[in-house]
Amino acid sequence: MKQIQDHYFHKAKKEGYVARSVYKLQEIDQKYHLLAKRNRVLDLGCAPGSWLQYAAKQVGCGGEVVGIDLSSIALKLPENVTVVQADIFEYPFREQFAQPFDVILSDMAPKTTGVKSVDAQRSCNLCEQALQIANEYLKPTGSLLVKAFQGGPFEQLRQQFREQFSHVKIYKPKSSRQESVEVFLLGLQKK
Ligand SMILES: C[S@@+](CC[C@H](N)C(=O)[O-])C[C@H]1O[C@@H](n2cnc3c(N)ncnc32)[C@H](O)[C@@H]1O
Repeated sequence: MKQIQDHYFHKAKKEGYVARSVYKLQEIDQKYHLLAKRNRVLDLGCAPGSWLQYAAKQVGCGGEVVGIDLSSIALKLPENVTVVQADIFEYPFREQFAQPFDVILSDMAPKTTGVKSVDAQRSCNLCEQALQIANEYLKPTGSLLVKAFQGGPFEQLRQQFREQFSHVKIYKPKSSRQESVEVFLLGLQKK
C-alpha cells in the first residue's frame, strides 16, 4: 500500500493507529453513528488493522469484531477481535458465521492497474461481493459501508444498494485524498 506521510499519517502514529485510513471510518462513524456498544462487526479487507482497532473500541468488550484479509496482520489486537486470513471470494462464510452482524465494513481495494475502467470494475466486483455477503450475513436494519471507485459501474452499484437498504449515502471523508477516485457508499437500515 502506498504510504502518504501527511497530517493524518502523523496523527495516526501519535494516537497509536496502524494506518491513516482509520480517520475515514472515524469521520463516517461520527456523522452517521454506525458503530455502537455491543455490536457484532465484520471488517472485510481489514489489514493492516486500523479499522479493527477503531471498531474494537467503539463496540467495547461486550461487542465483537471479525476481520478478513488476504494478508496477515502483525498487530497485537484487543481480545474482542478475531482475524482470518482468506480471500472473501473463497471463504466459507456459511460454515463459520452462525450469528449475523450488526455492521459490515469494507475498505477493500483491488490491485490497481492504472487503467481507470479496469480498476473501477475490480473495485465494483469487491463491492458487489460485500453486498452479497451483507445480503446473507447482515441483520435486518443493519448497515453496510464499502469503499468504491467512482466511474464505470458505480451508478449500477448505487442502485443495488438502494434495493437492499432504506437509505443510501455517498460520502467522501476529508482524509481521503481529493485526487483519489475513492468514495464510500453507505447502506443504512437493511430492508
Ligand atoms: C486499504 S487496505 C484496508 C485498510 C484497513 N481498513 C485499515 O484501516 O487498516 C485494503 C485491503 O483489502 C484487502 N483485500 C483486497 N481484496 C481482497 C479479497 N478478495 N479478500 C480479502 N481481502 C482483500 C487487501 O489485502 C488490503 O489489505
